[in-house]
Amino acid sequence: MKELLIATTNKGKIKELEKLLNGVVKKVLSIQDFPGFPAVEEDGETFRDNAIKKAVSAFNFTGIPVIADDSGLVVDILGGKPGVFSARYAGENANDAANNAKLLEKLSAIPTNKRKATFQCVIAFCKPEEECRTFKGELHGIILEKPLGDSGFGYDPLFLVPEYGKTLAELPIEIKNRISHRGVAMKKFSDFLTSNNTL
Ligand code: IMP
Repeated sequence: MKELLIATTNKGKIKELEKLLNGVVKKVLSIQDFPGFPAVEEDGETFRDNAIKKAVSAFNFTGIPVIADDSGLVVDILGGKPGVFSARYAGENANDAANNAKLLEKLSAIPTNKRKATFQCVIAFCKPEEECRTFKGELHGIILEKPLGDSGFGYDPLFLVPEYGKTLAELPIEIKNRISHRGVAMKKFSDFLTSNNTL
């Protein structure tokens, strides 16, 4: 197997993917290996739109097989918000604490049984002479009324995984990586590579 470019600057994601692709892909590259790569505006209406946009622009720039992902939190009672705005829910440069505070405020009058949410992730894969493909992962949970746990990032401390009775910020990272929206989408992608002997 040859090279695969991961169109992200997020070192955590690159590490996670390298682990999953071990033995399937010989060399994993990141956009840091391609100076001059232009920033891509994530202005799509869906995770799929954004993932494809990022993957296509990286593929056009480098010409090598590429994957890009987009993900976020979808809260039922909020009509799917924050969705594609998850990273900037409380404003353009909002940090995790501000985003979590806004989410809690929006849900303040909502009882537990109506606080259902889903983490969603779409990975887009583009390679020469083929249509781009996408792989989707989801994790269902409940938004708590206050944060629990110190690990993870983003909305993890508020996201209860009912099967474990713990938030994503309380679960060991190995478990989170296996059950998470990103873990599920990545597994589908690596299974696809393995079964199609592709690249
Ligand atoms: P992106 O896919 O890196 O653009 O992530 C978008 C935003 O969704 C992040 O900034 C987080 O706020 C949220 N998010 C995505 N995945 C996770 C996760 O695994 N845990 C907590 N928050 C997440």
